[in-house]
Amino acid sequence: MERTFVMLKPGVLQRRIAGEVLSRFERKGLKIIALKIVRMDRAMAEAHYAEHKGKDFYEKLVDYTLSGPVVAMILEGEDAVTAVRRMVGPTDVQNSQPGTIRGDFAYRTRLNIVHASDSTAGAERETALFFKPGEIVEWEDRNGQWY
Ligand SMILES: Nc1ncnc2c1ncn2[C@@H]1O[C@H](COP(=O)(O)OP(=O)(O)OP(=O)(O)O)[C@@H](O)[C@H]1O
Ligand SMILES: [Mg+2]
Repeated sequence: MERTFVMLKPGVLQRRIAGEVLSRFERKGLKIIALKIVRMDRAMAEAHYAEHKGKDFYEKLVDYTLSGPVVAMILEGEDAVTAVRRMVGPTDVQNSQPGTIRGDFAYRTRLNIVHASDSTAGAERETALFFKPGEIVEWEDRNGQWY
């Protein structure tokens, strides 16, 4: 089964909407196999967003990522990377339809509330940055037939 990495950006805990966002992934049928609150340091934030170094929004993106704790998780499901990106919606919130997480909760692209891996390779890299192997819990899916 495919795995993806999701990070709820600092505004989510500040706004007390972590449960609401998490609930969407659960209702869809994705399986939470790792979950924790993390206060990232600069090196970690820069590593996480290394692909954007040099872009005009990079400094603000890193500063925002460091402005408070984030919620990091690994979700498992069929085609989880694509399924979660679809639920999250496009990067630019102006293009994010209502019904997507960004479309429903974000007004500004810079504060677009959630990060989700864009490939399985990205998911593996980001998972390794945030989680130790022992923090990932595999559990038997007894409700699998409903999803
Ligand atoms: N034009 C922009 N202006 C401001 N912030 C931006 C812009 N483009 C991207 N960002 C910020 O940088 C993050 C990373 O951009 P990226 O292109 O990787 O989008 P994404 O893959 O949809 O988002 P993420 O990597 O956070 O899941 C975005 O989530 C957003 O917060
Ligand atoms: Mg990205």
